[in-house]
Amino acid sequence: MSLATKIGSLTLRNPMILASGVLGTSYSTLKRAYEAGLGAVVTKSIGINPSSGNTNPSIFALNEIRSVISSIGLANPGFQVFREDLEKLLESSVPTIVSIFGESMEEFKEVLNGLTDLPIQAFELNFSCSSSKKDRAQISTDPDLVFEIVKELRTNTTVPLWVKLTPNVSNIVEIASSAVRGGCDALVAVDTLKAMVIDIQTKQPILGNKRGGLSGAALKPVGIRSVYDLYEHFDEEIPIIGVGGIYRGEDIIEYLLAGATAVEIGTSLGVAYPENMVRFFQMKVKKYMEEHKFSSISEITGGAHK
Ligand SMILES: Cc1cc2nc3c(=O)[nH]c(=O)nc-3n(C[C@H](O)[C@H](O)[C@H](O)COP(=O)(O)O)c2cc1C
Repeated sequence: MSLATKIGSLTLRNPMILASGVLGTSYSTLKRAYEAGLGAVVTKSIGINPSSGNTNPSIFALNEIRSVISSIGLANPGFQVFREDLEKLLESSVPTIVSIFGESMEEFKEVLNGLTDLPIQAFELNFSCSSSKKDRAQISTDPDLVFEIVKELRTNTTVPLWVKLTPNVSNIVEIASSAVRGGCDALVAVDTLKAMVIDIQTKQPILGNKRGGLSGAALKPVGIRSVYDLYEHFDEEIPIIGVGGIYRGEDIIEYLLAGATAVEIGTSLGVAYPENMVRFFQMKVKKYMEEHKFSSISEITGGAHK
C-alpha cells in the first residue's frame, strides 16, 4: 500500500500539504511542518513589497464550530527578503509550493520572475487580492482576468501553476474553466469564505477589518461540494487539490472521494502540534485503505462519482 500521490508531473510522498498562510513564510516553521510528515508545504502568499497586513484584531476563534474567522490580509516580507528562506527550504529538500499574489498582471509577473529560477515544485496563484485595474473587484471572481493572468504567467515559467479558487462565487466551475484554458496545471479548492462576527456588547464587528474569511470545520462541506463540482466537470483532465476544514483523517478521505488527488490543511495545523496531527491523519488514511482494500490514493480519488 502506498500513500504517494501524483499532481501532474509532481509526485508527493503522501497527499497531505500544508495550506498557505497558517504557518507563515519562515524556513524553520515550514521545515518543521514538512518533517512532521506532510507531503509538501505551501508558503504564505508572497507579493512584491513587505506588508504588515490588516489592523488587529485580525483573527477570532469560533470554538463552538471548530472554526476561525481571520483577516490577516496579505502580511508578508516581500519576495526579495523571502527568497533567502526559500533557498534554505529547497536546500533541505522540502517540497515547496510558493503562493504568490499581486494586484495586477505586472505585479504577478514581477514576483514570479523573481523566483522562477529556483527549483520549486509549483507556484500557487492567490487571486483573492483586489484588482488595481477593475474597480478593485477581486481577481478571483472575474473569469476574464483569471484567464488573462494565467495565460501570461504560463509563458513566463516552466514551473507548474496551481490556481487557488475562491468559494465566493455562484459557479466555481466557470472560474476554474478560465484557469484551465489559461494553462494551469492544478486547481486548489477552496480559499476562505467571506464572513463576519459581531460583538453583541459593543454592537460592532470584532475584526479590525470588519469582514474576514471563514476557515476550519464549518468550511468543509463547502470545500467538498466545490471539489465534487470540479471533478464532475473536469474528470481527470486536471488534478484537484481539496482544502477546507480538515481536522481528521476521515476528512481527507472525504475530499479524495469527492475527486481530490491531494489536500491542503490549514487551520487545524495552526492550532495543534503538527507532529501529532499528521501522525493521526496518516494512521487513519492507512486504516481506511486497508479496510476498503485500496492500494493507492488514485484508487480512492473520485470514488463518490462512481
Ligand atoms: C490565518 C490564515 C491565513 C491565511 N493566509 C492565506 C494566504 O496567505 N494565502 C492563501 O492563499 N490562503 C490563505 N489562507 C487560507 C488557507 O490557505 C485555506 O485555504 C483556508 O484556511 C481553508 O482551509 P482550512 O479550513 O484547513 O484552514 C489563510 C487562512 C488562515 C486561517
